[in-house]
Amino acid sequence: MWVMTEFEKLSVEDLVFYYEESTYILDKVGLSMDRPEIIGIIGPNGSGKTTLIKCINNILTPKQGKIMLNESDIKSMSMNDVAKRLAYVPQNTERDMNSPNVYEVVLMGRKPHTTWQYTESDDRVVWTIMKEMSVAHLASHRFDELSSGQLQRVLISRAIAQEAKIFLLDEPTSNLDVKYQIEVMETIRDIVKQKNVGACIIIHDLDLAYRFCDRVVMMNDKKIKFSGTPEEIMTPENIEEIFGVKSVICEIEGNNHVVIT
Ligand SMILES: Nc1ncnc2c1ncn2[C@@H]1O[C@H](COP(=O)(O)OP(=O)(O)OP(=O)(O)O)[C@@H](O)[C@H]1O
Ligand SMILES: [Mg+2]
Repeated sequence: MWVMTEFEKLSVEDLVFYYEESTYILDKVGLSMDRPEIIGIIGPNGSGKTTLIKCINNILTPKQGKIMLNESDIKSMSMNDVAKRLAYVPQNTERDMNSPNVYEVVLMGRKPHTTWQYTESDDRVVWTIMKEMSVAHLASHRFDELSSGQLQRVLISRAIAQEAKIFLLDEPTSNLDVKYQIEVMETIRDIVKQKNVGACIIIHDLDLAYRFCDRVVMMNDKKIKFSGTPEEIMTPENIEEIFGVKSVICEIEGNNHVVIT
């Protein structure tokens, strides 16, 4: 169902962010994505993962460094241009959206693409995505009456409707049951492959990260400490250094799994 688009390269260079100059939250963080892939961002609570994603999405303004999409600095882009390129699913959503229903929330994702009114084609896109994400039966339900997992799937649907080049997903599976955790990750993997787009996913579940991410960055102490494929960097040594827990990587039915011991 997904339509192929032209890949846009993301590059984050020497990003510095703080609220108070005495307390750096991000200290010269760099990240680049030059092909369609899923990058997992992992690290302890408070290590700056959400701050990094919010800087990339222009919600927070970095104090130093720059964020480029292809050859354009996002600072010089209009909000609409950013929304056509970057789709953001936040970690916490305030349900103060005047209680629209689920259909209306997903339709909002079409906004960067409309000039005046939504069209029949927008309607078709929204229904296809809602079916794909198993939320079509909730179409007329009020947004503020959903369970946390339903809400998360609706927000991911809205991001898909945006048809962006890069998805920025802050813990998209945290409220999902095990079946939907896998389904959502598989959907993201399908979109990345078939639409030629990229995804940066903050994820606490190390096993899901290992299984679905093409590359992983491990953050701690304001910086990216390790970056590479899951096989390269999600080692028991690095996991212990970052999280202070012991783990083993074990092979089950031909796939590697991270088990905290
Ligand atoms: N509005 C704010 N004002 C001051 N400090 C803040 C603000 N928001 C976040 N911080 C601080 O910035 C640091 C990084 O927060 P951030 O939300 O990026 O962490 P995170 O890695 O996403 O953590 P989590 O895994 O808990 O979601 C934390 O120390 C946090 O207390
Ligand atoms: Mg966070």
